[in-house]
Amino acid sequence: MKIAIMGAMPEEVAPILERLDDVEEVNYAKNRYYKAKYKDIDVVVAYSKIGKVFSTLTAATMLQMFACDVLLFTGVAGAVNPELKIGDLVVANKLAQHDLDITIFGHPHGYVPEGSVYIEADKDLIALSKIVASEMGVNVKEGIIATGDQFIASEERKNFIAETFKADALEMEGASVAVVCDALGVPFFILRSISDSADMDAGFNFEEFVESSAKVSAEFLMKMVDRL
Ligand code: ADE
Repeated sequence: MKIAIMGAMPEEVAPILERLDDVEEVNYAKNRYYKAKYKDIDVVVAYSKIGKVFSTLTAATMLQMFACDVLLFTGVAGAVNPELKIGDLVVANKLAQHDLDITIFGHPHGYVPEGSVYIEADKDLIALSKIVASEMGVNVKEGIIATGDQFIASEERKNFIAETFKADALEMEGASVAVVCDALGVPFFILRSISDSADMDAGFNFEEFVESSAKVSAEFLMKMVDRL
């Protein structure tokens, strides 16, 4: 088995790169991929750069060019559900693109013909995350993640995303990665730790907490890899 582990930003994969052995750096499609061993497991690690397009490219590359059998994503998110605080973990059970809009033609937000509003993540990986969480004595919130090519820092847009998609958290890559994995029939798991609340203070909070929250997410993810 070969595991793809990706984030969007350097901060999101740095705690993982530290743990790898026999690292071989491969340059492909203007990005760096790290083929390596984690304990006895073959992994490919990369950060995609921010947003749906770059994350689509990286996910597709990891599955098709590097032939990974499963994809795990780690990173940070803005909280939509008011129960979620900075540093809390969110596991996506389904994901949607909040900025995909052809509603003028009578379609729901997030939908295009022959697609679907939501893509569901792998149930076995979600179940494993619950086991790891209870062993570690930490809470993980299972919920809906909404993705778009926008950093959200307004109550108005956040409320739209909350109401339209029933989202618990939002970010900029999960749903695009989900589309790739779903299309190629590869199980995937999207984990996020909260860095901000997508409100007026989001820019400031993100800068302050991106590194610490990214670490929370990456460390949890590697505990899951230990159990795969
Ligand atoms: N990732 C972390 N916080 C975010 C926000 N407020 N908007 C979009 N993506 C994010």
